[in-house]
Amino acid sequence: MSFRDKVIYQVYPKSFYDSDGDGIGDIRGVIEKIPYIASLGVDMVWFNPFYVSPQNDNGYDVADYYRVNPDMGTMADVEELIARLKEHGIEVMLDMVLNHVSTDHEWFQRALAGEKEYQDFFYLREGKADGSYPTNWESKFGGPAWENFGDTDLFYLHLYDRTQADLNWHNPRVRQELYKVVNFWLDKGVRGLRFDVLNVIGKAEFLEDAAPGVVDKSLYTDTPRVHTWIQEMHRETFGRCDYKVTVGEMSSTTIENSIGYTNPENNELDMVFSFHHLKVDYLDGQKWTKTDFDFPLLKHLLNDWAMGMQAGKGWNALFWNNHDQPRAINRFGDPVNFHAESATMLATVMHLQRGTPYIYQGEEIGMVDPSYENMSDYVDVEALNAYKELLAEGVNEANAFEIVASKARDNSRTPMQWSNAANAGFTSGDPWLRPTDFEQINVAAEEKNGKILPYYKQLIALRKAHPVIARGSYAPYELDHESVYAYVREHDGARLLVINNFYGEPTEFPLDEEFLHGRVVISNYPDPVLEENLQLQPYQSLAILI
Ligand code: NOJ
Repeated sequence: MSFRDKVIYQVYPKSFYDSDGDGIGDIRGVIEKIPYIASLGVDMVWFNPFYVSPQNDNGYDVADYYRVNPDMGTMADVEELIARLKEHGIEVMLDMVLNHVSTDHEWFQRALAGEKEYQDFFYLREGKADGSYPTNWESKFGGPAWENFGDTDLFYLHLYDRTQADLNWHNPRVRQELYKVVNFWLDKGVRGLRFDVLNVIGKAEFLEDAAPGVVDKSLYTDTPRVHTWIQEMHRETFGRCDYKVTVGEMSSTTIENSIGYTNPENNELDMVFSFHHLKVDYLDGQKWTKTDFDFPLLKHLLNDWAMGMQAGKGWNALFWNNHDQPRAINRFGDPVNFHAESATMLATVMHLQRGTPYIYQGEEIGMVDPSYENMSDYVDVEALNAYKELLAEGVNEANAFEIVASKARDNSRTPMQWSNAANAGFTSGDPWLRPTDFEQINVAAEEKNGKILPYYKQLIALRKAHPVIARGSYAPYELDHESVYAYVREHDGARLLVINNFYGEPTEFPLDEEFLHGRVVISNYPDPVLEENLQLQPYQSLAILI
């Protein structure tokens, strides 16, 4: 089975299941829930980082790549997890955070202690003559991207939190150390690798200012070096494994570069996560704003990426949700009036597209953003910074709260809702992040008589039954319809038409003759009638195979 045939499930270990009552999800908790994961029919599980970390960015600030954070478990637990999942034919994908390390990491500490060899692991630069930072770059979490390096005159670069120091990939020793990390986990039996923000590793040696007032990501994004270093990593690490899945998280990337990263001839990666389709509810491109999503833009982006990647023999990772995104159902669906319908419509759009689908824990039961009422419930560094910045810009507290509530990463990080018991059945202790709305939305209820979980299982099974889904070409269908996004997949004589109504009102949709006598292989409403003017119900999805 190749990476094209798989469905990947994402587990955020801190919020999946807490086996020991400390309020934090752990590896033993995941082991207890393997029967549930296996019941979905997925092929691989991507785990967010569980390495030793001070948790300033929930584990993306790695202090030791070779050990497990004590509150999440032990190396023996991880080995057992890999083995037990394999018994169900499920492989493990781990997060490789190689752009930066925690300032608690030994490399940074030794650099601080004055060891020249380790100082060369980081981007240390002098400030400008006027005492200002080496460049005017901004951290992606707000504020300057530079911080004083101990009590020296130097500054170190951090594109993310100030405790996440960017690694100097120009130094061959750094690259060798990072490849060692990748090989260590491959040797443990890990067969999936998700590379965190991989397209920002290629900063120049001589860092330049962006034009005043401009956030110019091109200075550190998608540079040609990124391709060179991924090819080197391929040779030195995962290239030696017969079967494995590699996916790069590519921030603000382009189709052209993503083809470069994933065209198999280049020996780089299998697929990429790109994010343009998740910025269609940003006002003027700014995340910390609140506005309705732009449906034509969303549809054109999905279509452009599908067409573009196909033309260049690239491959997309398909997803609506992850641990950095608010729940898609709150952004693009209607969780109040059409909860099951809009959840299953969104699932259909992604699972039947050209690419490999990812399911983020909880989306398969229709989990929604938490209904918090004030800032004290949020914990993420990015959300807390954004709230402060909005107030500083003069936005009033109520509006700033509303904006943060619509965009915070905590929205997807709330505990997995297992049942309607206390704390959603996630922990017997105090959860690190408070779950809400679990009385109605939980695994037990979905398993009993829900509509979303069985639909996800059906989508996963469909991919195994019909090669057109994993292998077929992609073409848009009636791209300019005002409320529908539809496309045709084609493989070996089979054609699959996928139709999705993105709105809460019924609509008509023209069906070509050839599909009138097709077979409906999935639909989120019972017994659709195939006719020239197809009558679509609110958030209806269906796929017709001929
Ligand atoms: C992307 C990760 O998904 C996110 O959670 C993290 O904060 C940044 N990379 C920095 O590592």
